[in-house]
Amino acid sequence: MPTFAAANNSIMAYILGIESSCDDTSAAVLLDTLLLSNVMASQEVHKNYGGVVPELASRAHQQNIVPVVSQALNIAGVSMSDIHAIAFTRGPGLLGSLLVGTSFAKGLSLAADIPLIEVNHLTGHVLSHFIDVLSEDGKTLVPASGSKPEFPFLCLLVSGGHTQILKVKSPLSFEILGQTIDDAVGEAFDKGAKLLGLEYPGGPHIDRLARQGDSGQFTFAKPRIKDLDFSFSGVKTSFLYFLRDRMAENERFIEENKTNLAAGLQKTLVDILVEKVIRAVKLTGINRVALAGGVSANSGLRDRMILESKKRRWQVFIPPLRFTTDNAAMIAITGYYKFLDGKTAGLDIAPVTRSSLMPGE
Ligand code: KG4
Ligand code: ZN
Repeated sequence: MPTFAAANNSIMAYILGIESSCDDTSAAVLLDTLLLSNVMASQEVHKNYGGVVPELASRAHQQNIVPVVSQALNIAGVSMSDIHAIAFTRGPGLLGSLLVGTSFAKGLSLAADIPLIEVNHLTGHVLSHFIDVLSEDGKTLVPASGSKPEFPFLCLLVSGGHTQILKVKSPLSFEILGQTIDDAVGEAFDKGAKLLGLEYPGGPHIDRLARQGDSGQFTFAKPRIKDLDFSFSGVKTSFLYFLRDRMAENERFIEENKTNLAAGLQKTLVDILVEKVIRAVKLTGINRVALAGGVSANSGLRDRMILESKKRRWQVFIPPLRFTTDNAAMIAITGYYKFLDGKTAGLDIAPVTRSSLMPGE
């Protein structure tokens, strides 16, 4: 048993989290809110295809899941007999990928005779703000992201599949205030990157190039979408046509302007997101704003949110980079809150690929 647990009699539950919704196989162990391990196996195989190939993803999950889960248990210093419940990602995601995690979690729950907890991947991203780690002296718990937002707070959830502004009322009660009507912002980053000849996933490459570029050199039209909803397909199309026209004049245009193009695209996407967050704060009067999801790793978005928070006196909550993209720690923390509420699942539970699942459920 880990030293911290032995030294504190406040043990409630060891939760094993399993995430397999897309192309990362991950397992994590939490002791209540304290992160003991978070192991990740990313799949390199998709890079050559310009996107995630579902069949290859599920095959890689099958290969990775046993070693990833055993490593998570080893690092946490626990065995299956110590675990109180298994939380797994039910969806949204790719069916074949979700099926691997779901079936594995069911098998383990049956074998270990412990409860199974289904987790909405999106809720996981939001609740990653509530993960604790040990302080340097090992005596106290500290929030992994520096501080935890008080309820209610707003969350800009930005990933490869979703773009939403949520009002988070409690760990398991959310309201969607706005969302994309077409592409997710992560898709816009990835598709823009592909047009620039960059590898999948393109978001991190755009981020890296944008840091060396001038965002004022090229600007792209922003859509006018009502209320707190978003649209990104127009930006992608205008980026495509712009590149096509310029390449017709100079076939080395992309090569010669890559950093400025990345910076211009990133600024446009960040502007669209931040303008809606500003509006959401005005409409709700809530000035605690959190970022979540893969795109919250973007340095342009992070810097801009910090800037706006200083200017507008918001409290802004930015997750550590390791909790921005898909990971099982966020699934385990959500599992922990559901465990406290007695929300367990039966063995007949099946994955859900689309976001018919409400975040917070
Ligand atoms: O949350 P996530 O890992 O998976 C989904 O749930 O979709 O998000 C993946 C998305 C991809 O579109 C990826 O390009 C984007 O997050 N992403 C970034 C950055 N890091 C990851 N986008 C922009 N800048 C980044 N630094
Ligand atoms: Zn995700």
